[in-house]
Amino acid sequence: MNILIIGTGYVGATTAMVFAESGWQVTGLDVDAGKIERLRQGRLHFHEPGLEDLIAKHVSSGRLLFTTDKETAIAGHEVIFICVGTPSQPDGNADLRYIRQASEDIGHWMNGYKLVVTKSTVPIGTQEQVKAWIEAAQRQPHLFDVASNPEFLREGKAVEDALRPDRIVIGTDNAKAAEQLLTLYQSFQCPRIITTPRTAELIKYASNAFLATKITYMNELARLCDEFEVNVNEVATGMGLDPRIGPSFLQAGLGYGGSCFPKDVLELVMTARKLQVPLRILEEVMEVNRTQFTYLLDKARTRLGDFANKNIAILGLAFKPDTNDIREAPALRIIHELLLEQANVRLFDPVATLPAHASYQAVTVCSLVEEALHNADAVILCTEWPAFGQLDWENLKGHLKQLNFFDGRNMMDARLMRGIGFYYQGIGNDY
Ligand code: UDX
Ligand code: UDX
Repeated sequence: MNILIIGTGYVGATTAMVFAESGWQVTGLDVDAGKIERLRQGRLHFHEPGLEDLIAKHVSSGRLLFTTDKETAIAGHEVIFICVGTPSQPDGNADLRYIRQASEDIGHWMNGYKLVVTKSTVPIGTQEQVKAWIEAAQRQPHLFDVASNPEFLREGKAVEDALRPDRIVIGTDNAKAAEQLLTLYQSFQCPRIITTPRTAELIKYASNAFLATKITYMNELARLCDEFEVNVNEVATGMGLDPRIGPSFLQAGLGYGGSCFPKDVLELVMTARKLQVPLRILEEVMEVNRTQFTYLLDKARTRLGDFANKNIAILGLAFKPDTNDIREAPALRIIHELLLEQANVRLFDPVATLPAHASYQAVTVCSLVEEALHNADAVILCTEWPAFGQLDWENLKGHLKQLNFFDGRNMMDARLMRGIGFYYQGIGNDY
């Protein structure tokens, strides 16, 4: 079987690499000629540790090809994975226009049997729509099957997650399609779940929404920890040792961001509202997450009096470490608010860059931490890049005007920072 991947973003590029690594012949198709040109040279258009080397390896061996030619690509492959984006529409529901485009392209150019698999996160019931879109676009009748095979990749850890998944979920009503997908994943050692398409689609949303809830629970608890002068990191450690709870995703901070949690929680909430079975817990999760960054900003404002003409050093822009993705990054919200309140913002991030939008032009983007700290009245740490944990604050403090440190990711040791002379506040970890 040869495999076509439509969409070569984070999910598509990683999926293409995984199948090439498993020994299959793979082609990546994208409408963006610039991305495809880079990929053909074995270069990535985003930052994802370890992925570029593996892509380059398979481009060199010829096992991984990239193209913008829809007709040849669709006609020449039997198994087609749809990995295009599913962003939120203004009303909160997922925008399926790219899924529809890919489905119609498949219908239009298919020349024989195809197995079409949605890997993008799509609302429950989308698979039935994909089927209808393909059928409607067919120029002559050809047999095809559709299946859902959701991705569970974390940015920054996509290679690890893709090569060693903890489960493979296959949603299809068709035994032949399930068999084909099991063959594609035959070299993987993890549980497989074969289920209905709707169940597979819901497993993905339910997983992301649960993880977002877990984080949000800790974020809310961190506010209570502040009242009791208890360290939320220690509470998380104590909780996480219970195997029923587990240690991961208990890290309190500025709230969850990224291309998945915010849009997936919103989509589930909106769909449930429409069906009049409101998901009240998730409604609250969204609300707590919306106000989480202001919780730290309020602490900083109280300390400084106000932000007008204050120099604020922002450390970290990416929504999490090891990625240059800034979609729904809490740092963007913080910067936006600081600019509204007339602060002077200096920003350092090891890889992420600000959008070329007029509203961010007032930000001074620095290529060194020291430059960002220059004459600062306060530091706000927004992303827990490991390199920030290695910084020698005893040496760096001379760059600042005032020693104020607001730790949005509870990365620093409060006692250590205070020992150096900083006024330090995190999110429930100051004790
Ligand atoms: C996205 C979603 O964020 C995620 O929830 C979902 O599970 C998969 O899709 P991501 O890979 O991060 O994940 O999306 P993005 O980086 O936007 O990549 C999508 C790619 O599809 C882009 O390269 C885009 O050019 C391409 N595309 C889009 C097509 O090839 N054809 C189209 O019609 C539309
Ligand atoms: C997520 C899911 O984990 C992945 O399975 C899915 O398919 C795609 O969406 P991703 O968004 O790349 O992956 O990153 P993730 O590590 O889940 O972090 C999401 C957000 O939660 C980040 O903003 C991160 O900073 C935040 N987070 C995570 C916390 O605030 N605390 C935690 O303990 C963990």
